[in-house]
Amino acid sequence: MLRNRLNRGGGRTQRPFSSPATSQGPERIRSSGWCTKAAASDAPAVPMKAVAESRTVVGKITEPTGRTDKGIIDTQPPRGTRDFFPEDMRLRNWLFGEFAAVSTAFGFEQFDAPVLESEELFVRKAGEEITDQLYNFEDKGQRRVALRPELTPSLARLVLQRGRTLPLPAKWFAIGQCWRYERMTRGRRREHYQWNMDIVGVAGVEAEAELLAAIVTFFERVGLSKDDVGVKVSSRKVLQSVLTQYGVPPESFARVCVIVDKLDKLPRDKVEEELRVLGVPPATINGVLSAVSIQSLEELSQLLGPDSEAVADLTRLFQLAEGYGYKDWLVFDPSVVRGLAYYTGIVFEGFDREGKLRAICGGGRYDRLLGAFGGDNAPMAGFGFGDAVIVELLKEKGKLPAPPHRVDDVVVPLDTALRPAASGIASRLRRAGRSVDLVLENKKMKWAFKHAEKLNASRLVLVGTSEWERGKVVVKDLGKFHQEEVTVEDLI
Ligand code: HAM
Repeated sequence: MLRNRLNRGGGRTQRPFSSPATSQGPERIRSSGWCTKAAASDAPAVPMKAVAESRTVVGKITEPTGRTDKGIIDTQPPRGTRDFFPEDMRLRNWLFGEFAAVSTAFGFEQFDAPVLESEELFVRKAGEEITDQLYNFEDKGQRRVALRPELTPSLARLVLQRGRTLPLPAKWFAIGQCWRYERMTRGRRREHYQWNMDIVGVAGVEAEAELLAAIVTFFERVGLSKDDVGVKVSSRKVLQSVLTQYGVPPESFARVCVIVDKLDKLPRDKVEEELRVLGVPPATINGVLSAVSIQSLEELSQLLGPDSEAVADLTRLFQLAEGYGYKDWLVFDPSVVRGLAYYTGIVFEGFDREGKLRAICGGGRYDRLLGAFGGDNAPMAGFGFGDAVIVELLKEKGKLPAPPHRVDDVVVPLDTALRPAASGIASRLRRAGRSVDLVLENKKMKWAFKHAEKLNASRLVLVGTSEWERGKVVVKDLGKFHQEEVTVEDLI
């Protein structure tokens, strides 16, 4: 209610899982010098409470300090980033809990690495968008560093660090914040959390099949069906075969893939132009573009021949998918190439069947990344799954849960003199594993009831003078609307 009222006032709310439509406000506010009602009416006193609650910009922002003309800082986070209020954190914890539950169900172990990494980990020369979007700078020790835009190079660094001592296959997952200076669209932000699952040391497409099974398991867990979402699958070996047929040198492979990946964002003639600039001859361009428009594995087999590795990998992957029982979730689509340079084999991307949103997740095989970092190559495959698009989709489908804040017990001392007793009761309950909200101020019974209801408590424990003299408290079961006098032992 409060939020609605404030939003109508034009405040820039940037809910972590909201659509960018609501985050377009800041430019408007800054340029129009718009003030909230609170700021206008409460001036000159700085309406801290209003600012904290509404998260609106109070007063006109005066650049470059970022302060408003009322002298208060801009309470909004940097553009493209999000604050997570407790209600947002509940949702985020739910989502990350689902990510982690799927990963552990598949026997994966969690790892993490610093958000700040050495810049060289992310600088590749294949013309990828991700390289241009780096948040990179020189630290106080003159080292070039970057906020990680993805987790895969960090994973590779960790694998190289362990070297031969790492028992293979390794199955690792991570949930981490990534930073990309992106042009913001629906579901794309400048910071996002990514769930990654990667398998190190398995050369066969059994690894990709297992990863896809994990993605489908996640979709099912959150209530999505194969009519809502699917996963497009192809192999980079399709393009590799075509380029080899036309005699294009292997060094150009990654660059060609990065350009071809733009087909869903740029007009075809722009993509052709970029390929021409790279030196790809017109006949090869035609060959590449007709290969990525193929509709079926049969057609692909006719083009590349029965001995083609791409066809063999994809056929095997679809057989495995049938075995797992998720074949209908997959769509063979050779136009999926992926925009990251390091993929070498199977590539895939999760999509919404209505086609309203950008890729939900993406991944593939990258068997040569360790080599690019100067180490010995090892077969690797994995995926990244962002938090933003899936929340948008679940919202659209009415499947986004609203996890409540809840405690087991609310303990209320009914007199100041009873505070030590109430504190002792709360401590005993907490030690017994219950979550307890201890009321810290003198409050009326009516307030205590409302408060317990708000916290979805299952019990309200009232510590009153006469009951306590008898060594007892009143406990109200808020589910059954039943109350009784019990000893503290009986509470536990
Ligand atoms: P990616 O396709 O760049 O792949 O990102 C994976 C997923 O992260 C995307 O499908 C999307 O869900 C999310 N994502 C990426 N950028 C943004 C953004 N700016 N805002 C919101 N969400 C975003 C990779 O990052 C690979 N490292 C994945 C991988 C892991 N491949 C193998 N292992």
